[in-house]
Amino acid sequence: MNIAIIGTGYVGLVTGTCFADMGMQVVCVDNNEAKVQGLRQGVIPIYEPGLAPLVKKNHEAGRLSFTTSLKEGIADAEAVFIAVGTPPDEDGSADLSHVLGVAGEIGDCLDGYKVIVTKSTVPVGTAELVRARVRECLERRGATDVEFDVASNPEFLKEGAAIKDFMSPDRVVVGVDSERARKVMQRIYRPFLISSDRMLFTDIPSAEMIKYAANAMLATRISFMNDIANLCDLVGANVDMVRKGIGSDARIGTKFLYPGCGYGGSCFPKDVKAIISTARKHGYDMRVLRAVEEVNEAQKHLLFEKLERHFDGRLKGRRVALWGLAFKPETDDMRQAPSLVLIDELLKAGATVRVYDPVAMNECRRILGDNVEYGANIYDAALEADAIMLVTEWKEFRMPSWGVVHKAMRLPAEGEPLPPVLDGRNIYDRSELNSAGFTYYGLGK
Ligand SMILES: NC(=O)c1ccc[n+]([C@@H]2O[C@H](COP(=O)([O-])OP(=O)(O)OC[C@H]3O[C@@H](n4cnc5c(N)ncnc54)[C@H](O)[C@@H]3O)[C@@H](O)[C@H]2O)c1
Repeated sequence: MNIAIIGTGYVGLVTGTCFADMGMQVVCVDNNEAKVQGLRQGVIPIYEPGLAPLVKKNHEAGRLSFTTSLKEGIADAEAVFIAVGTPPDEDGSADLSHVLGVAGEIGDCLDGYKVIVTKSTVPVGTAELVRARVRECLERRGATDVEFDVASNPEFLKEGAAIKDFMSPDRVVVGVDSERARKVMQRIYRPFLISSDRMLFTDIPSAEMIKYAANAMLATRISFMNDIANLCDLVGANVDMVRKGIGSDARIGTKFLYPGCGYGGSCFPKDVKAIISTARKHGYDMRVLRAVEEVNEAQKHLLFEKLERHFDGRLKGRRVALWGLAFKPETDDMRQAPSLVLIDELLKAGATVRVYDPVAMNECRRILGDNVEYGANIYDAALEADAIMLVTEWKEFRMPSWGVVHKAMRLPAEGEPLPPVLDGRNIYDRSELNSAGFTYYGLGK
């Protein structure tokens, strides 16, 4: 089975590599020359646990190759997966220019039956736009006898656990409208679903909608719990206990009930915006999701507000150690990360920020350059700091030696409270921190 993947980012590279690992012949196409050159030499452009050795193994075995030429990449493929980015447009809708650009390129060189699959997260109706664009190109070339199908195969992998998610998916959703395409897609995914068939075939619009509905539901749980945590703070309840109390209800379940400093990443923020925008275009107002977004935006500022209150608004000249830059652990992805909002606010308030993240330091340098200082580890980041802000719950941040942190920090001025630790992920214990000489701020406890 020959497969082409167009767009070799988080999704494209993981998808291509996992297909190759199941014995398929995969060509990954990307229009970023440097990325393709790097991949050919074994340079993996993203941090994703387990990905590097898998790329190396399959590349060396000759099952996984990289090219900038789409024509060459799709030549022998039975299925072409479009996995390019769909960033938010100015009005929040998904920018489909990359997806449709690729569809046009495919139409310009398609010379035999293939299934053209949208793996990028795209609004309902996009597969039809892809079909129309490919047809247009075929007509222009006078190649209307060339057959093809479109399919929608949204991706549910989580950055940080992408290989595991792809290799053992909870479900594989495929929207098709032809038996021929269905058979091709079934064959591609059979190796991943040998122990149990978790393949869900739907019509194409439903497959497109499932992805947005899934992300919108997860984002809703997060914002809901952030709202509950904020109320817990006001009424003296402990959100950790509340979370356990409601999570043990089988109808609710335990996942995605953790308050934090706001969801980020390349998916939830843009997908929530995009589904709101789709609804608006159809004259419908997604009231729940507008509130989900509003709560999330406010939540990203919460640690800053707590810090400002702690120092009575006097943040100028303060030093803040910020632990964790990536939008979540086990990735170097900082797209829409709460850390960026907090750093921006701290700098505007005249504070100095010294950051540390186990893998996202280079990404931070690329985005923020010398606007922040870079620590070599959490203790180094705490050097001369007046406050600690925990933003990403990396494992190595969970049990620091608080005595060493305290020693590294600046002593509070006369009359000021103990130095604050702002726990943006509720992973620390208040009494432990109080005994170690800190003021503790959690979320809803
Ligand atoms: N990142 C995730 O966790 C995740 C999970 C599920 C779904 N998705 C969706 O998958 C899609 C891709 O996301 P990503 O995070 O992998 O994006 P990404 O930005 O990491 O990768 C996109 C890649 O496409 C390439 N590209 C752009 N235009 C191209 C073209 N015309 N020809 C060839 N290559 C081109 C870019 O150079 C880049 O390497 C998005 O729609 C996203 O919403 C992402």
